[in-house]
Amino acid sequence: MQEKLSHLRTEVESAIKSVKNSADLEVIHNKYFSRKGEIALMMQELGKLSPEEKPKAGQLLNETKKHLEALFEEKSQKIRADGMAAELEKEWVDVTAPGIPYKAGHVHPISQVQYEVEEIFSSMGFSIEDGPEVESEYYNFESLNIPASHPARDMQDTFFVDKEGDSELGRLVLRTQTSPVQMRTMQTKGAPLRIIVPGRVFRNEATDASHDATFYQVEGLLIDENISLAHLKGVMQEFLSKLFKKNVLVRFRPGYFPFVEPGLEMDFACLICNQKGCRVCKQSGWVEFMGAGMVHPNVLKAGKIDSKKYQGWAFGFGLTRLVMMKYGITDIRLLFGADTRFLNQF
Ligand code: DAH
Repeated sequence: MQEKLSHLRTEVESAIKSVKNSADLEVIHNKYFSRKGEIALMMQELGKLSPEEKPKAGQLLNETKKHLEALFEEKSQKIRADGMAAELEKEWVDVTAPGIPYKAGHVHPISQVQYEVEEIFSSMGFSIEDGPEVESEYYNFESLNIPASHPARDMQDTFFVDKEGDSELGRLVLRTQTSPVQMRTMQTKGAPLRIIVPGRVFRNEATDASHDATFYQVEGLLIDENISLAHLKGVMQEFLSKLFKKNVLVRFRPGYFPFVEPGLEMDFACLICNQKGCRVCKQSGWVEFMGAGMVHPNVLKAGKIDSKKYQGWAFGFGLTRLVMMKYGITDIRLLFGADTRFLNQF
């Protein structure tokens, strides 16, 4: 018995020593310390000994049992503590470490410039209006003095919506210009008016570096008493000078648009070369900027505005083109391509 016990003792000692994790602990517990484990078996054997042998062997067995149990308990605690330390290590957070930067989106360059345009015109007393992108033929064309047979319709190849039209307002189109919002606002608000209309427009265009089927315009309309083109020149000069943060010269040239009379085109002095001539201004010193003119009496009439009392001017420029000029972007497709390598530069 004595010999067996000392055998068991060294066996269990070395088993406990080699324990690495709680699974090992369980194996050892089952093998030696459980109700049917080796130590329990020894207790049973003890019962079979003669009365003379029993007390000594019993004492020894008890001692051995206590010793091994203590060892086992010590090891269990250590394993548990190590496990907790490892857990803690995993969960530990350095609250003083700088944060991990996350990618936040930002405002698209077209919207950035749109907000600037809105702010400048607001400061001159203009309000900002909006209108539908799916528009009727009446508002997009007829009401603006462009009847169906008018050759000016060819200038704006149109996407029609595949749906039966209204007998009065005609078919539905993706608006080709922001000008219909002039008419809608005249009809709902009446004179006097001072508005701009930034918005998305659509043309059936073949796409290339300077054309896209979707782009942005800004429409302007001012209706009041005693209004002349001199006011338009002043407003546009002020607007461009504020936008480009330097004095910008503008000039008028005759131009044709059915909804204005007289109609004109407005250019501004090339900011790239200071009018010395460059590729952007095609050596002319001037950059074409927008169409404009005095609102046609037919348009005022359709807008239910008394043309004897009121008159005014309207303009329309390409916001997309303005953004391209402002940042020197040479391909319009970059602006709608959603490539973040491009967009993150703004
Ligand atoms: N709507 C015209 C276009 O898309 C631009 C334009 C020209 C607007 C003259 C106007 C204007 O208000 O008076 O080409």
